Amino acid sequence: MATLRLGDTAPDFTAETSQGTLNFYDYLGDGWGILFSHPADFTPVCTTELGTAAKFKGEFEKRNVKMMALSVDGAESHAEWIKDINETQNTVVNFPIVADEDRKVSDLYDMIHPNANDTLTVRSVFIIGPDKKVKLTLTYPASTGRNFYELLRVVDSLQLTAHHKVATPANWEHGEKVVVSPAIPTEEAKEIFSKGVEEVKPYLRLTPDPTA
Ligand code: BEZ
Repeated sequence: MATLRLGDTAPDFTAETSQGTLNFYDYLGDGWGILFSHPADFTPVCTTELGTAAKFKGEFEKRNVKMMALSVDGAESHAEWIKDINETQNTVVNFPIVADEDRKVSDLYDMIHPNANDTLTVRSVFIIGPDKKVKLTLTYPASTGRNFYELLRVVDSLQLTAHHKVATPANWEHGEKVVVSPAIPTEEAKEIFSKGVEEVKPYLRLTPDPTA
């Protein structure tokens, strides 16, 4: 399977999940999506990640993002594991987990990296836009749990920059100053951004977050 790159179409699939058989595109509808993989059920780091993801679901919903997780174990195993996650993380897992026993989805999304582990999926994240294009990929090793604040932050940046001619600087968070897109001359930028444009360098122009 070729590596999925930014701008590629996210492959569609129909798969068994902890919430029954689901078609990925139907599940996403015309909103945004996050697909993220876990090495295996009943593993400690994954247990904390899925509990955290469940707690963040409301924040993702506010941004019109649906979550789908994946692990290479079966649906019955997922059901038992979800009980443990709910109990230990004080939450309710409220999004589907793909039961990818035949590795179909893992292969489609190149989630198995044989030099890391030839049977288990790595911790991949794909953020998918309403146009079904891949907007972000992240790959973490099994030993490192992901930061869900960062995923929310990236969604905020992706959604802002999809609608405004801006980019977001290092460590940016919603409400902070943004960078004017390099393609726009400063004089034009001053007309577009009514909150003002600060020219630090001709190639580095800042403007307040247009949505804040
Ligand atoms: C975990 O999720 O805790 C984990 C999974 C595979 C290897 C190491 C840790």
